[in-house]
Amino acid sequence: MTKKFSAPRGTTDILPDGVPAWQNLEETARRILKTYHYQEIRTPIFEDINLFVRSLGEATDVVNKQLFGVKSHEIETAEQAAMPAEYHPYALRPEGTASVVRSYLENSLDSKDQLSKLFYIGPMFRGERPQKGRLRQFHQIGVEAIGPNNTSPYLDAEILALAMHLLKDFGVQGVKLKINSLGSKEDKKIISSLLREQFAKYKEALCEDCQSRFERNVFRVLDCKNEACRKVVNIAMGTDVHLPLSVESLQYFNNVQSALKDLGIPYQVSRHLVRGLDYYTHTVFEITAEGLGSQDAVGAGGRYDGLIHELGGSPKIDYGAIGFALGIERILLSKGNIIQSPHRLNAFVVSVQPYEAFQLVHQLRQADISADMSFSPGSFKSQMGRANKLNTDYALILGEEELKNKTVAVKDMRNSTQEAVPLNNIIDYLRRALR
Ligand code: HAM
Repeated sequence: MTKKFSAPRGTTDILPDGVPAWQNLEETARRILKTYHYQEIRTPIFEDINLFVRSLGEATDVVNKQLFGVKSHEIETAEQAAMPAEYHPYALRPEGTASVVRSYLENSLDSKDQLSKLFYIGPMFRGERPQKGRLRQFHQIGVEAIGPNNTSPYLDAEILALAMHLLKDFGVQGVKLKINSLGSKEDKKIISSLLREQFAKYKEALCEDCQSRFERNVFRVLDCKNEACRKVVNIAMGTDVHLPLSVESLQYFNNVQSALKDLGIPYQVSRHLVRGLDYYTHTVFEITAEGLGSQDAVGAGGRYDGLIHELGGSPKIDYGAIGFALGIERILLSKGNIIQSPHRLNAFVVSVQPYEAFQLVHQLRQADISADMSFSPGSFKSQMGRANKLNTDYALILGEEELKNKTVAVKDMRNSTQEAVPLNNIIDYLRRALR
């Protein structure tokens, strides 16, 4: 037998039975995003590879191990990622923030001197080791608010309120919000050297990954799950509730927290929360849900004010930017396999005369009435059986008698009543009946 193909590792097909759940989620998202005044943006699914290297950071796992190069092959090392552009000039997008900032600047959205409130829904690609809730092609609902002079704690609170509102209306249970502040760009540099100093004494006790993180990105040691590393972090960090921030950064973080309290949004401060992408400063957050096992983050985000200059924003403008992304697969997984009612069909035409059936089906569709028929030869009985299975409102029967009298026998599939309707009146009849 000829070999069948399988979907690539870490990807899934969303079959027709599963699609209504996705559509419901997307419709709910669009409705809520509109009330917060966010507008949709659509960017390509691949970009210049250096956009991701520069935005997310060369030392991050996403760039270092997980980028899918478009031209040649999956990129495995930082050296390959840093290779000349001709080698693999593009990569599939591993996330949406870098692309949105690229588009924001390329299309001069900053010239409008106002906050751009943008959202996107679409696939992202990371060459991770697949497991429950961790895929190589997954989908995000992402939100980015970018603009001049908008570093306001109220905007941070709006973004968090929006993320929580979306998850509530999606019906996700056991949602927990963890927040932290990484401080300004300058704070981050100071904290990095402080952390290095603290961890230096215990370097040998850290796991292999953290020993290399120690040099490249010491922040990541803070959120390592390894038992030994957690111990080192607890000893080195003592009882401080957050990272050693400057007075201004701490004030900003306190203001964000007051705004959250005013809105009645429960949260927890976690000093270990640092996130895996380099572009964050100040507020960072992660949202988890119950029932997901180890991959329980349904969403995450934070401020990335510095990224806009990093990607070529005008030095004269003081940009602020904050956003988040929610993982659609994890949201659906957390809700369990809820079977949604399949699409209803308004009419199924039953006839042993395919020509007449086909004409009627076409007429109905032109009048916006969903209709179908059987394309394989079959008895009245088998066609009626199919109409039943398809969750159809009406079976339209064109038997010999009906064809002779130019009528249709309309059978209401919900209560099994039947009525003869003149063929030239069928559209009006169904429109009224379906109202
Ligand atoms: P992230 O934390 O890398 O952030 O991803 C956000 C969410 O996407 C995660 O919380 C998770 O639900 C989902 N996700 C990530 N990787 C996978 C995967 N391999 N399989 C399934 N789901 C996954 C970002 O992507 C940032 N761009 C968020 C952001 C927007 N920050 C500011 N603006």
